[in-house]
Amino acid sequence: MPVVTYKDNAISVKQGDSVLETLEKAEFTIPFSCRAGVCHSCIMQTEEAVPKAAQEGLSASQVSQGYFLACSCYPVNDISVRLRGSVDFSKGKVIKKTLLNQTVLAIFIQVDFRWFPGQYLTLWKDEVNGRSYSIASRCDNDKVIELHVKRHEQGLLSRWLHDDVVVDDILTLSLPLGDCFYTEDHHNKPMIMACTGTGLAPLYGILQEALLQQHAAPIVLYAASGEPGGLYYREVLQSLAEQNEQFSYIPVVRRRAQKGMLEQDIIDVVKEKHPDLSGHKIFICGAPNVVKTMQRNCFFQGAAISGILVDAFEMTKVEK
Ligand code: FES
Repeated sequence: MPVVTYKDNAISVKQGDSVLETLEKAEFTIPFSCRAGVCHSCIMQTEEAVPKAAQEGLSASQVSQGYFLACSCYPVNDISVRLRGSVDFSKGKVIKKTLLNQTVLAIFIQVDFRWFPGQYLTLWKDEVNGRSYSIASRCDNDKVIELHVKRHEQGLLSRWLHDDVVVDDILTLSLPLGDCFYTEDHHNKPMIMACTGTGLAPLYGILQEALLQQHAAPIVLYAASGEPGGLYYREVLQSLAEQNEQFSYIPVVRRRAQKGMLEQDIIDVVKEKHPDLSGHKIFICGAPNVVKTMQRNCFFQGAAISGILVDAFEMTKVEK
C-alpha cells in the first residue's frame, strides 16, 4: 500500500483513495473545489513520480516542477507532498459590485495579469476556501475582471462575496486557466453559444471578444433560465444584437415567457433550430446535465469534437 508523506506524517493510502481523500481522512485541510481535476484548487507539489492523470491540464512548466492535482492523484508508489507556494497567486482590488438580478452579483476586480475572456480563476476567502468563477470581461488596458456570482444560501464564498466584500477590499486570486475562449481560427465559422444561469459569464466575455474582432459569420446566443427573472443582461445583449447584424440573442425560459423569449427547453431549441452543425464553433456553459446533453447532441448533429468548447469548470464547480 503506497504511503503519502505530508508535514512529516506518513499516511497509508486506502484502496481507491486519491491523495486529497487520503489527506482529508488524516484530518488535514487541503484546498479543493471541483474534485474532478478541473479547477486546480487542489494543486500540490512532489519530487516523486505521479500517475499521468494527476498532471492532466497542467502546463509543461508546472509538470516539470512536480505539480500535480491531489484530487486526481491515485498513487502507486510512496510520495512526499506539499502545498504549493504563493507563486501562482495574485491580488486584486474590488472596484465595483452590482446586482444583475435577484441572486446574481457582478463583481469587478482590478488585477495586474492578463487573461482571455471565458477563462476562469479561483477566488480565495482564506487559505483553504476558494471557488472558481468564469471571467466575463475582455482584457484591455484597464485590466478589470468581471465575475458573476450566484448567491447560494449554503455557499460560503458566494455569501461572503455578496454580503461582506466591499469596494476597495483586496482579494486573493489564482491565475486564470481554461481553454474555452475565442481564437482567430473561429473568425469565419458560425458560432452557437448556449448557456444556463451564470454560464452566461464566459459567453458574454467570448461574445465581446468575437464582436471586437469583427467576427465574420453568424453568432447566435441562447441564454436560458427557468423564468424571465433568472435571466440577466437582456438589454445589453439586445442592444449588441441591434448594433451587430451578425449577432442574434435569444432568451429561453421554461415558464412565463415574455415577448421575444422562447418557452422551451434549451436542449430542444438548439437541437431543432440547428440540425446541421458541421463547421460550427459551439460554446456551451451552465448546468452539468444540460451541458453534457447538449455537447453530445451537437456532436451527433455534425459539430467536430474540437469545435465544441465547454466551460468544464462550470460543469463541476461545487460550493463548500
Ligand atoms: S482540480 Fe482538484 S479539486 Fe479541482
